[in-house]
Amino acid sequence: MPKTITPTSIRPVGEHVSLKQQALPARYAGFSEQYVGSGTMALQYALQQVKARHKHPICEVMLPAYACPDLVSACIGAGVTPILVDLGPNSPFPSLDAIKDKLTQHSAGVILINFLGLSPPKRLFDDISALGLMTIEDRAQSFEPAHEAGKLLGDYVIFSFGKGKPVSLLGGGLCLSRSANTARDATEQKSNTSDSKIPWAFRLKASLYNLVIQPFFYYCLLKVPGLSIGETHYKAPEPIENLPAFKHHLIRANIGRQHAINQNAQDQLTQAAAAKGLHSFGSAPYEQRLLRLPFLAPNKQHRDTVLTQLNASGIGASAMYNTPLPNIKGTPLDSAQREAAYPNALDFADRLITLPCHSGVRGPAFKRILSALADTQISN
Ligand SMILES: Cc1ncc(COP(=O)(O)O)c(C=O)c1O
Repeated sequence: MPKTITPTSIRPVGEHVSLKQQALPARYAGFSEQYVGSGTMALQYALQQVKARHKHPICEVMLPAYACPDLVSACIGAGVTPILVDLGPNSPFPSLDAIKDKLTQHSAGVILINFLGLSPPKRLFDDISALGLMTIEDRAQSFEPAHEAGKLLGDYVIFSFGKGKPVSLLGGGLCLSRSANTARDATEQKSNTSDSKIPWAFRLKASLYNLVIQPFFYYCLLKVPGLSIGETHYKAPEPIENLPAFKHHLIRANIGRQHAINQNAQDQLTQAAAAKGLHSFGSAPYEQRLLRLPFLAPNKQHRDTVLTQLNASGIGASAMYNTPLPNIKGTPLDSAQREAAYPNALDFADRLITLPCHSGVRGPAFKRILSALADTQISN
């Protein structure tokens, strides 16, 4: 009898959520901390502070034209005007020239995104500060624990504990505000974190999530009609809530769940991708812990061809947002910004492809990605 092979799919991103309760996370020296309900709320909280410190009634904050629409939502929620800036060529980061072009008397700050673990250059943070603007470092895609606080560059830094983020609590966020006052507010922390009991609904949700990211169940999930997993949508802002008390006690264990693909595996994937015309950018080979392994194809058609074939082989390759912010349906931007051209952001969105590099990418799954890449047919 022929052997039946169980169908499986390799998820694009995500680690198992740990329900192990531990001591509260260490404090970030030199920052005040606000643990909130999501990364978007953390960003909204940071932007509220930026607005409060701004001298003009109109408060503009710049953000890259290729980004998660949650950034626009946080701006709207905080009552600041989002101003899109183009990226630098072949880069996920805005150029200083593009920032200078959009500078007005209303400009208050710039959101700089850590892209999948890759940080914008420190020089860019310094140059923006020299323009008299505040920097908001969005680290939703790259967590740093308190003992690495020295690596953080922004006046404000935000982390996300959402699904598929490096430290996942299936929802949550942290805003760090640079401050001279490092004393912990004892009463606030006590009332926020004393109840460590994990609600059964969260236990159930985490167990289901941990199950569904397994290759067989992930395959089944992808077959469910109408779920549109991984699609990017604009979500309206919500009032800022505190992180539920019990989640504070899960942070340490989930920091321990972070995964970094080893250098040898990264090199093999990079070579296999290069053989199909997909190239690393920036500081590759990357020494940083990455959420996904990013590459640029020569053009959109090439990228889409590889993406379609890898996905058809059950490999969770992803183009991320696929398009610049003005093209993401429902994103509230004024018509001038909607109609403006962001050529580098468009080019980056057209050519980006990311490969999974989570803890499930080893053994047979790793070989499967290599062979799916090798089998990819590129038509010229
Ligand atoms: C760069 C960036 N910032 C902010 C967010 C929002 O985080 P959350 O989903 O926790 O609200 C995301 C989410 O994907 C993100 O990628």
